[in-house]
Amino acid sequence: MKYVVVSGGVISGIGKGVLASSTGMLFKTLGLKVTSIKIDPYMNIDAGTMSPLEHGECFVLNDGGETDLDLGNYERYLNVTLTRDHNITTGKIYSHVIAKERKGDYLGKTVQIVPHLTNAIQEWIERVSKIPVDDTGLEPDVCIIELGGTVGDIESAPFVEALRQFQFRVGRENFALIHVSLVPMIHGEQKTKPTQAAIRDLRSLGLVPDMIACRCSETLDKATIEKIAMFCHVGPEQVVNVHDVNSTYHVPLLLLEQKMMDYLRTRLHLNDVTLSSEDISRGENLLAKWKATTSNFDESMEIVKIALVGKYTHLKDSYLSVIKALEHSSMQCRRILEIQWVEATDLEPEMQELNKEKFHEAWNKVSTADGILVPGGFGVRGTEGMILAARWARENKIPYLGICLGLQIATIEFARDVLDKKNGNSTEFVNDLPEEDQIVVYMPEIDRENMGGTMRLGLRPTYFQEDTEWSTIKKLYGNQESVEERHRHRYEINPAIVEELEANGLVFVGKDETHKRCEILELKNHPYYVATQYHPEYTSKVLDPSKPFLGLVAASSGILQDVLEGKYQIHSQSEF
Ligand SMILES: *[C@@H]1O[C@H](CO)[C@@H](O)[C@H](O)[C@H]1NC(C)=O
Ligand SMILES: *[C@@H]1O[C@H](CO)[C@@H](O)[C@H](O)[C@H]1NC(C)=O
Ligand SMILES: *[C@@H]1O[C@H](CO)[C@@H](O)[C@H](O)[C@H]1NC(C)=O
Ligand SMILES: *[C@@H]1O[C@H](CO)[C@@H](O)[C@H](O)[C@H]1NC(C)=O
Repeated sequence: MKYVVVSGGVISGIGKGVLASSTGMLFKTLGLKVTSIKIDPYMNIDAGTMSPLEHGECFVLNDGGETDLDLGNYERYLNVTLTRDHNITTGKIYSHVIAKERKGDYLGKTVQIVPHLTNAIQEWIERVSKIPVDDTGLEPDVCIIELGGTVGDIESAPFVEALRQFQFRVGRENFALIHVSLVPMIHGEQKTKPTQAAIRDLRSLGLVPDMIACRCSETLDKATIEKIAMFCHVGPEQVVNVHDVNSTYHVPLLLLEQKMMDYLRTRLHLNDVTLSSEDISRGENLLAKWKATTSNFDESMEIVKIALVGKYTHLKDSYLSVIKALEHSSMQCRRILEIQWVEATDLEPEMQELNKEKFHEAWNKVSTADGILVPGGFGVRGTEGMILAARWARENKIPYLGICLGLQIATIEFARDVLDKKNGNSTEFVNDLPEEDQIVVYMPEIDRENMGGTMRLGLRPTYFQEDTEWSTIKKLYGNQESVEERHRHRYEINPAIVEELEANGLVFVGKDETHKRCEILELKNHPYYVATQYHPEYTSKVLDPSKPFLGLVAASSGILQDVLEGKYQIHSQSEF
C-alpha cells in the first residue's frame, strides 16, 4: 500500500480537498485502485447534529454515516464508496482509546498521547486503508490521506506526530507527502515567504515535503518556483503550480501537465506494483474520458438555466452535492450550467407587500428558468414559496425535480390544487393536522421524542412498480427493476392518499420493499416532472451523473430524448 498525505500550511480553505481528490484521480489513471481517508482534528463524533449553517451540507454515506462535504469530494472524483470509518476525528480516536483503557486493554499502564493515541491513529489508518471501495472488491493500492486544518495547529499535533512515525512504519518508498501552500499576490508580486515559513514548520515536526503545491491566483513565475525550491530544499520539479482555473475539474489535468505523476511514480516505486494490461487500459480510458468530459467548454456553448428554490440560498455550501450533480449532468449534456438561486420566501404573496422588488426578481428567475429544482430541507419556512414554484412547473410544463422535501412539496401542491384538498399539509408543519388534510406524515417506525439519530438513513432499495413502462425516470435508470439510493428523512407521503393521487395522474413509480412507502413520483403528460424521497445527489459522480439530475438537465436543454437514446454518452474515444 502506498500512502500519500496531503497537508496544508499558511491558511485552510485553499482547495486542499480538490488537490487531494485530483491527485487520487491521477493515480487511478495509472490503473491503480485508490481509496482515501479524511482526518478532521475536531472533537465531534458525527456530523448529523452539526449545523449546516456552520458546516455546509451534511453528506450521507451508503452505511448511513453522516459526514461533511469532503468525503463526497472523494466519492465523486474517485468513483468509490466510502464508510463512516474513512473519516477520523479527534473525538473518534479519543473515544476509541478511552474505551480500550476502560476495558483494561492497556493493562493498567499510564495511557498517553504518545504512544497510545498516536499508535491508535496509525492502526486506524492501516485498517481502514485496506477496505475495498470499488466493485472489484479488492484491497486498494494507494491511499490518499487528507489532514484537515493547517500543520502547526494545536488540534492537529497528535495526527502530525502519528504521520511522522507512520513514514517509518510503512517505509520511505510507500509514503509521500504533498504540502499545499499559498503564494499570495501583493502589488502584482508573488510572495514566497508564507510558503517558506510553512515548510519550515513542517520540517521542524519531522515531516519532509515531496511536493509543494502552491495555490496562487496566477501562474507562478519561473523565478518564484526557483526561489521556493531553493529556500525549501527541494528540486524545482517538486514545486507544483496550482493557479486558479475555470473549473475544479481541470485541476487533475493541470497537475498532469506539470509531470507530477512522473515524480511520484519514481518516488513511490510505482513500477514495482504489478498491474494487468486490463488495469492499465482501464486507467488510460479513464483519463481520456475525463478529458473529453471536462474540457472543450467555451462561451459559444448553450446555457441551461436551473432555478434552485431553497432556503438560505446565500449559503451555497449547504447545497454542495446538489450543485455538483447539476454540474456533472451539464457536462454530460454539453451545456454551460447557470444556477438561478431563489430564496423560497421571496416567492410568497406576503413578499409582494414587504419588498416588491425582491418578489418580482424571484418570480422573474423562476419564470425564465429552463428547469426548476426544489432540494431537501427541514422546517416550514419557505415551503409556501416552494409549493408555488412546483405549481408553476406543473402548469407550464417546465421540467421539475424535487428532492426529499421537494417530493413532499410537489405532492402537497397537487393534492391542494387537483384533489381539492385546500388545507392539505404535512404533520411536520402543523401539529394537530386533521386526518383528511394529512398529505405528509411522520414515519411510524421513528421515535418522535428523540430527534438526534432517528432518521431513515443510508442506502435503501426502491422498486419500480407495475405498469410503469411509460416512466421517464425508469428509462433513465436503464429500465432496471430496482435502484439503490441514499436516504435521510423522517417524514413520508401518507399511504392513505396514494390511490387518489395516482388516479389523477401523479404516480408513485418507485416504492420501497414493502411496496407502500413512496420513493419516486412522476407526473403523467408532462415533459419531466419527477421527485424522489431519497437524495440522488449523494451518489452522483463526475463521469457518471445521477440519473434524476441528468433527466432534469437534459429535459431543460430540450435533449431528453437524445440522452435516453444514449447519444450524449461520452466515450473515451469521443473527441479524442
Ligand atoms: C468527520 O466526522 C466529523 C465528526 O462528525 C465531522 O466534524 C467532519 O466534518 C467529518 N469529516 C468528513 C470529511 O466527513
Ligand atoms: C464507477 O464504479 C462503478 C462501480 O463501482 C462502475 O460500474 C462504473 O463503471 C464506474 N464508472 C466509471 C466512469 O468508471
Ligand atoms: C477560461 O474561461 C475563459 C472565459 O470563459 C476562457 O477565455 C479561457 O480560455 C478559459 N481557460 C481555460 C484554460 O479553459
Ligand atoms: C400548511 O403549510 C403551509 C406551507 O405551505 C404553511 O404556511 C401553513 O401555515 C400550514 N398550516 C396550515 C394550517 O395550513
